[in-house]
Amino acid sequence: MTATTAATGRPKKAAGTRHTLTADELSAYGLRNRWYPILPSRMVATGDMVPVKRLNVDWVLFRDAKGQVHMLEDRCPHRSAPLSVGQHLGDRIACLYHGVQVNGEGTVVSVPGMPGCALEGRQATLSLKVVEACDTIFAFVPLTADDEPTEFVLPDRLADEENSWFLNYAEWAGPWRFYMDNVLDPMHGAFLHRSSHSMFGGDTSARFRIRETDRGFFFEKTDQRGVNFDWVEFVRGSMDHVDLEIPYAASGGPGGVFGITGMYVPVDATNVCVFHWRTRRVQGWEREVWRFLYRTQLEEKHWEVLEQDRRVLEVLAADADTDENLYQHDLGVSRIRRMYKADAKAQAKILAGEA
Ligand code: FES
Ligand SMILES: [Fe+2]
Repeated sequence: MTATTAATGRPKKAAGTRHTLTADELSAYGLRNRWYPILPSRMVATGDMVPVKRLNVDWVLFRDAKGQVHMLEDRCPHRSAPLSVGQHLGDRIACLYHGVQVNGEGTVVSVPGMPGCALEGRQATLSLKVVEACDTIFAFVPLTADDEPTEFVLPDRLADEENSWFLNYAEWAGPWRFYMDNVLDPMHGAFLHRSSHSMFGGDTSARFRIRETDRGFFFEKTDQRGVNFDWVEFVRGSMDHVDLEIPYAASGGPGGVFGITGMYVPVDATNVCVFHWRTRRVQGWEREVWRFLYRTQLEEKHWEVLEQDRRVLEVLAADADTDENLYQHDLGVSRIRRMYKADAKAQAKILAGEA
């Protein structure tokens, strides 16, 4: 199934908003018609209602009595009270204000103050298609309410059962695009992470190239591989993500290189959720050793590396990317910015009824 968009003509509202969005707003709040990781599964227990903001829209996640997660716009169809402050009734939420009940598909199932009223039976609240995989709740965020979800396909590294992974999740300040820029900039490994357990080696100067693929591109050093953070792949698929590897010394346990799948999800224009799955290719007893080592030693070290990133990215000037002097190492950054600008323009045109 592919994403489709309603007929052209009049401007359309972006799903989960009461208005259309410009290309600049789409760039700031996040591109639509993609699958995004929303929250680690463990953060929504059965019976929980969890409010989250993603792509500048307020949502409520709730897990029904059967364990299925639902994701609704956090807005009652009656008079817009947040559903997340209402009551969890197993397979539905009752709004706190006047008791209207909305089920996981966004359909009003009861208006207790006026039984039989026309609102009953209406699919009046935006409900997103949700999939749980890899300890994570994923959702498809449509451009307009008419857009159908694309097929859900996990990144290669996570779909491969030979790999064993841990999800690492953080919420940080700063525009999401700074975090995309950061991973498309492998050279920072040799400087910012020089003092880390895994990126102390290799040259501090390099030449880079872009290598096109049928699903995105590699940004890689031409003269060093397997020593530091030497390459990254940007992949456009069911969900945009980056894939990279950091070499590990034998003291880091079995499994060889350490693979990372990364995704950076906009909360709003100035906050981001960071998802990293840390993976190693290990089976049998080696898998147990890796999982033990990760929990007892490596996870803490990885948080230290992430802290190095966070400390820089959270204090970058809000307009950092409007006045720069880029050099050859920034080709990956330039490429990703161009791609997302083009996407934002194309989606804004659809919303404006011009495409
Ligand atoms: S605002 Fe929710 S029932 Fe009235
Ligand atoms: Fe980094």
